[in-house]
Amino acid sequence: MTEPTARLALATCAELPDLDPDDVPLRDALRERGVPTDVVVWDDPTVDWSAYPHVLIRSTWDYTDRPAQFADWTRRVEQYSTLLNPADVVAWNIDKTYLRDLEQRGLPIVPTIWLDPERNLNARAIHTRFPAFGDFVIKPTVSAGSRDTGRYDAGETPSRSLAITHAKNLLAVGRRVMLQRYLTNVDAEGETALVYVDGEFSHAVRKEPLLEGPYRAGEQEGVLFREEVMSPRDPSPEERAVGDAVVAALAEVFPDRAPLLYTRVDLIPDDEHKPVILEVELAEPSFFFAHSSGSVERFADAVAARV
Ligand SMILES: Nc1ncnc2c1ncn2[C@@H]1O[C@H](COP(=O)(O)OP(=O)(O)O)[C@@H](O)[C@H]1O
Ligand SMILES: [Mg+2]
Repeated sequence: MTEPTARLALATCAELPDLDPDDVPLRDALRERGVPTDVVVWDDPTVDWSAYPHVLIRSTWDYTDRPAQFADWTRRVEQYSTLLNPADVVAWNIDKTYLRDLEQRGLPIVPTIWLDPERNLNARAIHTRFPAFGDFVIKPTVSAGSRDTGRYDAGETPSRSLAITHAKNLLAVGRRVMLQRYLTNVDAEGETALVYVDGEFSHAVRKEPLLEGPYRAGEQEGVLFREEVMSPRDPSPEERAVGDAVVAALAEVFPDRAPLLYTRVDLIPDDEHKPVILEVELAEPSFFFAHSSGSVERFADAVAARV
Protein backbone atom coordinates (compact mmCIF):
# COMPACT_ATOMS: atom_id res chain seq x y z
CA MET A 1 0.00 0.00 0.00
CA THR A 2 1.38 3.35 -1.02
CA GLU A 3 0.76 5.84 1.76
CA PRO A 4 -0.05 9.18 0.15
CA THR A 5 2.33 11.92 1.20
CA ALA A 6 1.59 14.48 -1.51
CA ARG A 7 -1.47 16.01 -3.12
CA LEU A 8 -0.35 15.37 -6.69
CA ALA A 9 0.23 11.83 -8.00
CA LEU A 10 2.43 11.24 -11.03
CA ALA A 11 1.17 8.04 -12.64
CA THR A 12 3.74 5.62 -14.01
CA CYS A 13 3.96 1.89 -14.83
CA ALA A 14 5.39 -0.92 -12.67
CA GLU A 15 8.44 -1.16 -14.88
CA LEU A 16 9.38 2.49 -14.25
CA PRO A 17 8.67 2.92 -10.51
CA ASP A 18 10.86 6.05 -10.42
CA LEU A 19 9.44 7.54 -13.65
CA ASP A 20 11.20 7.87 -16.94
CA PRO A 21 14.58 9.60 -16.31
CA ASP A 22 13.40 12.55 -18.43
CA ASP A 23 10.66 13.27 -15.86
CA VAL A 24 12.87 13.24 -12.75
CA PRO A 25 13.64 16.99 -12.99
CA LEU A 26 9.90 17.61 -13.10
CA ARG A 27 9.52 16.35 -9.53
CA ASP A 28 12.23 18.74 -8.38
CA ALA A 29 10.74 21.67 -10.28
CA LEU A 30 7.31 20.96 -8.79
CA ARG A 31 8.72 20.62 -5.28
CA GLU A 32 10.42 24.01 -5.70
CA ARG A 33 6.98 25.41 -6.53
CA GLY A 34 5.46 23.98 -3.37
CA VAL A 35 3.95 20.96 -5.11
CA PRO A 36 5.43 17.75 -3.72
CA THR A 37 4.52 14.61 -5.70
CA ASP A 38 4.06 10.90 -5.17
CA VAL A 39 5.00 8.56 -8.01
CA VAL A 40 2.27 5.94 -8.23
CA VAL A 41 1.85 2.86 -10.44
CA TRP A 42 -1.43 3.28 -12.35
CA ASP A 43 -2.58 -0.35 -12.08
CA ASP A 44 -1.46 -0.91 -8.49
CA PRO A 45 -4.73 -2.07 -6.87
CA THR A 46 -3.69 -0.84 -3.43
CA VAL A 47 -3.56 2.83 -4.38
CA ASP A 48 -6.24 5.06 -2.91
CA TRP A 49 -6.75 7.58 -5.70
CA SER A 50 -9.18 9.60 -3.62
CA ALA A 51 -6.18 10.63 -1.51
CA TYR A 52 -4.93 12.72 -4.44
CA PRO A 53 -6.84 15.81 -5.53
CA HIS A 54 -4.84 15.78 -8.79
CA VAL A 55 -3.29 13.05 -10.92
CA LEU A 56 -0.86 13.70 -13.77
CA ILE A 57 -0.31 10.82 -16.20
CA ARG A 58 3.33 10.28 -17.05
CA SER A 59 5.05 7.03 -18.03
CA THR A 60 2.10 4.59 -18.05
CA TRP A 61 3.36 2.97 -21.24
CA ASP A 62 2.44 -0.65 -20.50
CA TYR A 63 -1.28 -0.08 -21.17
CA THR A 64 -1.18 -0.62 -24.91
CA ASP A 65 -2.06 -4.33 -24.60
CA ARG A 66 -5.05 -3.47 -22.37
CA PRO A 67 -6.34 -0.07 -23.44
CA ALA A 68 -9.83 -0.70 -22.08
CA GLN A 69 -8.43 -1.28 -18.60
CA PHE A 70 -6.45 1.93 -18.88
CA ALA A 71 -9.46 3.93 -20.05
CA ASP A 72 -11.49 2.46 -17.15
CA TRP A 73 -8.76 3.50 -14.76
CA THR A 74 -8.82 7.10 -16.01
CA ARG A 75 -12.60 7.26 -15.52
CA ARG A 76 -12.31 5.76 -12.06
CA VAL A 77 -9.62 8.25 -11.05
CA GLU A 78 -11.84 11.05 -12.26
CA GLN A 79 -14.56 10.03 -9.83
CA TYR A 80 -12.30 11.03 -6.97
CA SER A 81 -9.75 13.33 -8.45
CA THR A 82 -8.87 15.71 -11.28
CA LEU A 83 -6.97 14.01 -14.04
CA LEU A 84 -4.53 16.04 -16.16
CA ASN A 85 -5.40 15.61 -19.10
CA PRO A 86 -9.04 14.55 -18.54
CA ALA A 87 -10.32 11.01 -19.15
CA ASP A 88 -12.47 11.88 -22.19
CA VAL A 89 -9.44 13.44 -23.85
CA VAL A 90 -7.30 10.41 -23.01
CA ALA A 91 -9.98 8.01 -24.30
CA TRP A 92 -10.13 9.87 -27.63
CA ASN A 93 -6.33 9.83 -27.86
CA ILE A 94 -5.59 6.17 -27.02
CA ASP A 95 -6.59 4.93 -30.47
CA LYS A 96 -4.99 6.59 -33.49
CA THR A 97 -8.32 6.62 -35.31
CA TYR A 98 -8.53 10.14 -33.85
CA LEU A 99 -6.37 11.03 -36.85
CA ARG A 100 -9.52 10.68 -38.97
CA ASP A 101 -11.20 13.40 -36.88
CA LEU A 102 -8.24 15.67 -37.48
CA GLU A 103 -8.25 14.86 -41.19
CA GLN A 104 -11.94 15.74 -41.39
CA ARG A 105 -11.08 19.10 -39.87
CA GLY A 106 -8.71 19.72 -42.75
CA LEU A 107 -5.46 18.82 -41.02
CA PRO A 108 -2.72 17.00 -42.95
CA ILE A 109 -2.12 13.47 -41.63
CA VAL A 110 0.14 10.68 -42.85
CA PRO A 111 -1.93 9.00 -45.60
CA THR A 112 -3.39 5.89 -43.98
CA ILE A 113 -5.40 2.82 -44.93
CA TRP A 114 -7.36 1.49 -41.96
CA LEU A 115 -7.96 -2.26 -41.55
CA ASP A 116 -10.76 -3.17 -39.16
CA PRO A 117 -10.73 -6.58 -37.45
CA GLU A 118 -14.51 -6.89 -37.87
CA ARG A 119 -14.10 -7.20 -41.62
CA ASN A 120 -12.27 -10.55 -41.40
CA LEU A 121 -9.90 -9.62 -44.21
CA ASN A 122 -8.08 -12.59 -45.71
CA ALA A 123 -4.45 -12.54 -46.83
CA ARG A 124 -5.40 -11.54 -50.36
CA ALA A 125 -7.59 -8.67 -49.20
CA ILE A 126 -4.75 -7.39 -47.02
CA HIS A 127 -2.25 -7.81 -49.83
CA THR A 128 -4.26 -5.80 -52.37
CA ARG A 129 -4.10 -2.83 -50.02
CA PHE A 130 -0.30 -2.74 -50.02
CA PRO A 131 1.35 -0.07 -52.16
CA ALA A 132 2.66 -1.28 -55.55
CA PHE A 133 6.23 -0.27 -54.74
CA GLY A 134 8.37 1.28 -52.03
CA ASP A 135 8.43 0.74 -48.31
CA PHE A 136 5.37 0.73 -46.10
CA VAL A 137 4.51 0.52 -42.43
CA ILE A 138 2.12 -1.73 -40.53
CA LYS A 139 1.17 -0.77 -36.99
CA PRO A 140 -1.76 -1.14 -34.62
CA THR A 141 -3.95 1.89 -33.93
CA VAL A 142 -3.25 1.47 -30.22
CA SER A 143 0.48 1.62 -29.60
CA ALA A 144 3.26 3.55 -27.96
CA GLY A 145 7.01 3.45 -28.21
CA SER A 146 6.91 1.90 -31.71
CA ARG A 147 5.72 -1.40 -30.30
CA ASP A 148 4.19 -3.90 -32.75
CA THR A 149 5.27 -1.66 -35.61
CA GLY A 150 7.07 -2.94 -38.72
CA ARG A 151 8.49 -1.60 -41.97
CA TYR A 152 8.23 -3.62 -45.17
CA ASP A 153 9.37 -3.48 -48.79
CA ALA A 154 6.58 -3.85 -51.35
CA GLY A 155 9.16 -4.90 -53.95
CA GLU A 156 10.26 -8.00 -52.02
CA THR A 157 8.01 -11.05 -51.88
CA PRO A 158 9.36 -12.33 -48.52
CA SER A 159 8.88 -8.87 -47.01
CA ARG A 160 5.29 -8.69 -48.27
CA SER A 161 4.64 -12.12 -46.73
CA LEU A 162 5.96 -10.94 -43.38
CA ALA A 163 3.72 -7.88 -43.66
CA ILE A 164 0.65 -10.02 -44.28
CA THR A 165 1.49 -12.19 -41.27
CA HIS A 166 2.03 -9.12 -39.10
CA ALA A 167 -1.29 -7.55 -40.12
CA LYS A 168 -3.17 -10.83 -39.78
CA ASN A 169 -1.77 -11.46 -36.30
CA LEU A 170 -2.86 -8.03 -35.12
CA LEU A 171 -6.32 -8.36 -36.68
CA ALA A 172 -6.72 -11.88 -35.25
CA VAL A 173 -6.53 -10.52 -31.71
CA GLY A 174 -9.05 -7.80 -32.50
CA ARG A 175 -6.65 -4.94 -33.05
CA ARG A 176 -7.26 -2.31 -35.71
CA VAL A 177 -4.37 -1.87 -38.12
CA MET A 178 -2.89 1.11 -39.95
CA LEU A 179 -1.15 0.74 -43.28
CA GLN A 180 0.97 3.70 -44.40
CA ARG A 181 3.60 4.30 -47.02
CA TYR A 182 6.95 4.77 -45.31
CA LEU A 183 7.60 8.49 -45.76
CA THR A 184 11.28 8.30 -46.71
CA ASN A 185 12.08 11.95 -46.08
CA VAL A 186 12.02 11.12 -42.39
CA ASP A 187 15.36 9.39 -42.96
CA ALA A 188 17.17 12.66 -43.70
CA GLU A 189 14.94 15.16 -41.92
CA GLY A 190 13.81 13.20 -38.85
CA GLU A 191 10.56 13.54 -36.95
CA THR A 192 9.59 16.73 -35.11
CA ALA A 193 7.77 16.68 -31.78
CA LEU A 194 6.17 20.00 -30.82
CA VAL A 195 5.17 20.40 -27.18
CA TYR A 196 2.40 22.84 -26.21
CA VAL A 197 1.67 23.75 -22.60
CA ASP A 198 -1.71 25.31 -21.84
CA GLY A 199 -2.18 25.74 -25.58
CA GLU A 200 1.03 27.75 -25.97
CA PHE A 201 4.04 26.46 -27.90
CA SER A 202 6.76 25.45 -25.43
CA HIS A 203 9.54 23.62 -27.28
CA ALA A 204 10.36 21.15 -30.01
CA VAL A 205 12.73 18.25 -30.48
CA ARG A 206 13.96 16.18 -33.36
CA LYS A 207 13.59 12.42 -33.23
CA GLU A 208 15.72 10.22 -35.49
CA PRO A 209 13.89 7.70 -37.70
CA LEU A 210 13.06 4.52 -35.82
CA LEU A 211 11.97 1.88 -38.29
CA GLU A 212 14.50 -0.26 -40.06
CA GLY A 213 12.70 -3.46 -40.85
CA PRO A 214 9.89 -5.92 -40.26
CA TYR A 215 8.23 -6.52 -36.97
CA ARG A 216 9.65 -9.71 -35.48
CA ALA A 217 7.63 -11.56 -32.90
CA GLY A 218 9.49 -11.94 -29.65
CA GLU A 219 12.10 -9.29 -30.46
CA GLN A 220 10.27 -6.66 -28.45
CA GLU A 221 9.16 -9.04 -25.71
CA GLY A 222 9.35 -7.13 -22.46
CA VAL A 223 10.61 -4.02 -24.23
CA LEU A 224 8.59 -0.99 -23.20
CA PHE A 225 9.71 1.30 -25.99
CA ARG A 226 12.20 1.44 -28.83
CA GLU A 227 15.31 3.47 -28.03
CA GLU A 228 14.85 7.00 -29.33
CA VAL A 229 17.59 9.43 -30.34
CA MET A 230 16.54 13.02 -29.73
CA SER A 231 18.09 16.44 -30.23
CA PRO A 232 16.87 20.04 -29.92
CA ARG A 233 14.99 21.41 -32.93
CA ASP A 234 13.79 24.80 -34.08
CA PRO A 235 10.56 23.97 -35.86
CA SER A 236 10.01 25.44 -39.32
CA PRO A 237 7.16 27.94 -39.76
CA GLU A 238 5.24 25.20 -41.62
CA GLU A 239 5.66 22.80 -38.71
CA ARG A 240 4.58 25.44 -36.22
CA ALA A 241 1.52 26.20 -38.35
CA VAL A 242 0.43 22.54 -38.30
CA GLY A 243 1.08 22.25 -34.56
CA ASP A 244 -0.90 25.43 -33.87
CA ALA A 245 -3.73 24.16 -36.10
CA VAL A 246 -3.87 20.91 -34.09
CA VAL A 247 -4.18 22.89 -30.86
CA ALA A 248 -6.97 24.96 -32.43
CA ALA A 249 -8.75 21.81 -33.65
CA LEU A 250 -8.52 20.24 -30.17
CA ALA A 251 -10.19 23.32 -28.72
CA GLU A 252 -13.10 22.56 -31.07
CA VAL A 253 -13.19 18.84 -30.26
CA PHE A 254 -13.00 19.52 -26.50
CA PRO A 255 -14.43 23.01 -26.02
CA ASP A 256 -14.87 22.50 -22.26
CA ARG A 257 -11.32 21.25 -21.83
CA ALA A 258 -9.29 23.83 -23.70
CA PRO A 259 -6.59 24.69 -23.28
CA LEU A 260 -5.24 21.26 -22.43
CA LEU A 261 -2.40 21.19 -19.95
CA TYR A 262 -0.24 19.46 -22.55
CA THR A 263 -0.35 18.56 -26.21
CA ARG A 264 2.44 16.94 -28.19
CA VAL A 265 2.22 16.97 -31.97
CA ASP A 266 4.54 14.62 -33.89
CA LEU A 267 5.22 15.51 -37.51
CA ILE A 268 7.15 13.85 -40.32
CA PRO A 269 7.87 15.27 -43.79
CA ASP A 270 5.85 13.93 -46.72
CA ASP A 271 7.25 13.41 -50.22
CA GLU A 272 6.95 17.16 -50.89
CA HIS A 273 8.72 17.89 -47.57
CA LYS A 274 5.47 19.22 -46.10
CA PRO A 275 4.90 18.34 -42.44
CA VAL A 276 2.15 15.78 -41.87
CA ILE A 277 0.78 14.51 -38.56
CA LEU A 278 2.13 11.13 -37.43
CA GLU A 279 0.40 11.28 -34.08
CA VAL A 280 -0.87 13.64 -31.38
CA GLU A 281 -0.09 12.69 -27.79
CA LEU A 282 -2.51 13.78 -25.09
CA ALA A 283 -2.17 10.90 -22.64
CA GLU A 284 1.35 9.92 -21.67
CA PRO A 285 3.86 11.73 -23.89
CA SER A 286 7.51 12.19 -23.13
CA PHE A 287 8.31 15.89 -23.06
CA PHE A 288 12.08 15.59 -23.63
CA PHE A 289 12.80 18.27 -21.03
CA ALA A 290 16.53 17.54 -21.18
CA HIS A 291 16.67 18.85 -24.75
CA SER A 292 15.21 22.29 -24.14
CA SER A 293 16.33 24.59 -21.35
CA GLY A 294 13.46 26.24 -19.54
CA SER A 295 10.94 23.63 -20.65
CA VAL A 296 10.67 21.79 -17.33
CA GLU A 297 10.19 25.09 -15.46
CA ARG A 298 7.48 26.16 -17.92
CA PHE A 299 5.64 22.88 -17.54
CA ALA A 300 5.99 22.89 -13.75
CA ASP A 301 4.59 26.43 -13.62
CA ALA A 302 1.56 25.29 -15.62
CA VAL A 303 0.99 22.25 -13.40
CA ALA A 304 1.43 24.29 -10.22
CA ALA A 305 -1.17 26.79 -11.46
CA ARG A 306 -3.70 23.98 -11.87
CA VAL A 307 -3.29 22.10 -8.60
N1 LIG B 1 4.46 6.17 -42.27
C1 LIG B 1 5.65 6.26 -41.65
N2 LIG B 1 6.75 6.71 -42.34
C2 LIG B 1 7.95 6.80 -41.72
N3 LIG B 1 8.19 6.43 -40.45
C3 LIG B 1 7.15 5.97 -39.72
C4 LIG B 1 5.84 5.87 -40.27
N4 LIG B 1 5.02 5.38 -39.30
C5 LIG B 1 5.79 5.18 -38.22
N5 LIG B 1 7.08 5.53 -38.46
C6 LIG B 1 8.21 5.42 -37.52
O1 LIG B 1 7.81 4.59 -36.44
C7 LIG B 1 7.82 5.32 -35.20
C8 LIG B 1 6.60 4.92 -34.35
O2 LIG B 1 5.40 5.22 -35.03
P1 LIG B 1 4.27 6.11 -34.38
O3 LIG B 1 3.19 6.25 -35.38
O4 LIG B 1 4.85 7.36 -33.82
O5 LIG B 1 3.71 5.18 -33.20
P2 LIG B 1 3.98 5.15 -31.61
O6 LIG B 1 2.68 5.54 -31.01
O7 LIG B 1 4.36 3.74 -31.33
O8 LIG B 1 5.05 6.15 -31.28
C9 LIG B 1 7.86 6.77 -35.60
O9 LIG B 1 8.53 7.54 -34.63
C10 LIG B 1 8.60 6.76 -36.94
O10 LIG B 1 10.02 6.75 -36.74
MG1 LIG C 1 5.41 8.03 -31.93
